[in-house]
Amino acid sequence: MSNKQKTYDRVARLYDILDLPFEHGRYKRLRPQLFDGLRGALLDAGVGTGRNIAFYPANSDVTGVDISPAMLGRAKMRRAKLGRAVDLREMDVTGLTFADHSFDGVVSTFLFCVLEAELQLPALRELRRVCRPGGEIRILEYCLSQNPRRRFIMRMWAPWVRWVYGATFDRNTEQYLEQAGLELVKTQFLSHDIIKLLIVRPMVG
Ligand SMILES: C[S@@+](CC[C@H](N)C(=O)[O-])C[C@H]1O[C@@H](n2cnc3c(N)ncnc32)[C@H](O)[C@@H]1O
Repeated sequence: MSNKQKTYDRVARLYDILDLPFEHGRYKRLRPQLFDGLRGALLDAGVGTGRNIAFYPANSDVTGVDISPAMLGRAKMRRAKLGRAVDLREMDVTGLTFADHSFDGVVSTFLFCVLEAELQLPALRELRRVCRPGGEIRILEYCLSQNPRRRFIMRMWAPWVRWVYGATFDRNTEQYLEQAGLELVKTQFLSHDIIKLLIVRPMVG
């Protein structure tokens, strides 16, 4: 069992409660933007407790994967409550069992800040492999603010975030894009300069 699976199996029961202030104060307003214009077969990588489910586009067919059975259990409850048909599967994003080009689009919210440095490239390569040519991969991530006050506050939070979620604010996922065969279409800050949306595409050729 991976460390991340253990971490998330342990925190699953409390995850939504711990995250509630951030979900309502910050994430809830950002999640719909992530799905804007996406349709068809979509992958939600690191689906967690299914916080994105309410925002899946109507004309889409979504598969959510996560390494933690306990987080998936929460996502299944949310799926039932929302009455959405979502295929939820236990899977490691660094070893997806889907065929090449299975998805029209891929989203991932706050997964890459959890993945250790050595898993960033394998995970990006997998997302690239399962995304069809021309499809978009949208990654929502935290990053360390350049504003001294905000940066200081983030540094204060960092030990808690690492301990509870195994996450850091400074993964700098962009550095692996080229090696993963992905081209950056757009970077957009959605909340100050701390939550960033990366829109990337499989490179052609
Ligand atoms: C911070 S949570 C984010 C959950 C959800 N995407 C959200 O926006 O609320 C990160 C999720 O990634 C999952 N995860 C961590 N490592 C993973 C891996 N290698 N493969 C798949 N999921 C993973 C965790 O179990 C956890 O549910």
